[in-house]
Amino acid sequence: MAPLFTPFQLKDTTLRNRIVVSPMCQYSAEDGLPNDWHRAHLAGLARGGAALVIVEATAVSPEGRITPGCTGIWNDEQAGAWAGIVRLMKDAGAVPGIQIAHAGRKASANRPWEGDDHIADDDPRGWETIAPSAVAHGANLPRVPRAMTKNDIARVQADFVAAARRARDAGFEWLELHFAHGYLGQSFFSTWSNRRDDDYGGDFDGRARFLVETVAAVREVWPENLPLIARFGVTEFDGSDDLEDGIRMVRRLKDEGIDLIDVSMGFTTPTAQIPWGPALMAPIAKRVRREVAIPTTTSWFISGAAQANGLVEDGTLDLVSLGRPLLANPHWPYQAALELGVDKAAPATLPAPYAHWLQRYRS
Ligand SMILES: Cc1cc2nc3c(=O)[nH]c(=O)nc-3n(C[C@H](O)[C@H](O)[C@H](O)COP(=O)(O)O)c2cc1C
Repeated sequence: MAPLFTPFQLKDTTLRNRIVVSPMCQYSAEDGLPNDWHRAHLAGLARGGAALVIVEATAVSPEGRITPGCTGIWNDEQAGAWAGIVRLMKDAGAVPGIQIAHAGRKASANRPWEGDDHIADDDPRGWETIAPSAVAHGANLPRVPRAMTKNDIARVQADFVAAARRARDAGFEWLELHFAHGYLGQSFFSTWSNRRDDDYGGDFDGRARFLVETVAAVREVWPENLPLIARFGVTEFDGSDDLEDGIRMVRRLKDEGIDLIDVSMGFTTPTAQIPWGPALMAPIAKRVRREVAIPTTTSWFISGAAQANGLVEDGTLDLVSLGRPLLANPHWPYQAALELGVDKAAPATLPAPYAHWLQRYRS
């Protein structure tokens, strides 16, 4: 059996293979409420054969959305809509996961295909942004955020807890905290965005505090038998040697109860020099997995069945996360199974109403 198609167990959750739908914003909601687009999109991905479908960055509060089109999980109406989508994903054999997020100083932006920049200050569609310090991201995101008070910090952490509770009650079985990509969690950790001189800034422990406390608070309400994972940018690719600190942070997250890490990059500064290329994060993820001894996934330019399978086979990753390849072809897992010669590939990766016919008439 190709390693990509072996099951994987984390806590009481068993994945049918090692393929994960990486969270992908659709920017297609109104007032944070998922709609028919999200139902069709997520059910289609689950039907395609991935083991785990992680719902897009879903805001813990209205101000935590990246754009006005981002989904949310801050009220019961949204949670009810998610519960229906969870059922669709489970019916197709996928484990339903969700990424919960606060966009921090990158919030209040236009949709990517409508500019990808901050909504103008005088545009009523925009809102006040908050962050550890009053430091703008820059480039296309010039708005200076308001520095958070300790009350703001406590409120946002309470929002994460409430979101986790709603996710649990909606039936999600895998919860991911978005601590990457320059959003609020990452921006507390990064010296690019955190200039605080209180106990939420300064040295490593200070910059780690918001993330560590948030994990501890969420762990209180998220069931002990279900995976709690974090996506974290271990490096900014800013020319510094920040990877050591990034790995140290993964160790802290593990100590606090994070069960698996999705290794990503910081995206906190537009001056980063990212060495774009095939599977660029894989060697870094491998190092994290070895040094921290934590189950690991990553994404970014992993392509083709052979490469994905090889990353599991050689111990680089436990799970392979894919984004754009699955937008291009939700049945990527089925195609990969065929390519890798996995016996009875169709039943392993497709629901019966598809699998029966493809298997029966396979030449
Ligand atoms: C349309 C789109 C939306 C995305 N939204 C999110 C998101 O909500 N949360 C997140 O952590 N990453 C997000 N990403 C990044 C993906 O999860 C993934 O890491 C990235 O696309 C790299 O993987 P790939 O090379 O397989 O596409 C998004 C990417 C795309 C293409």
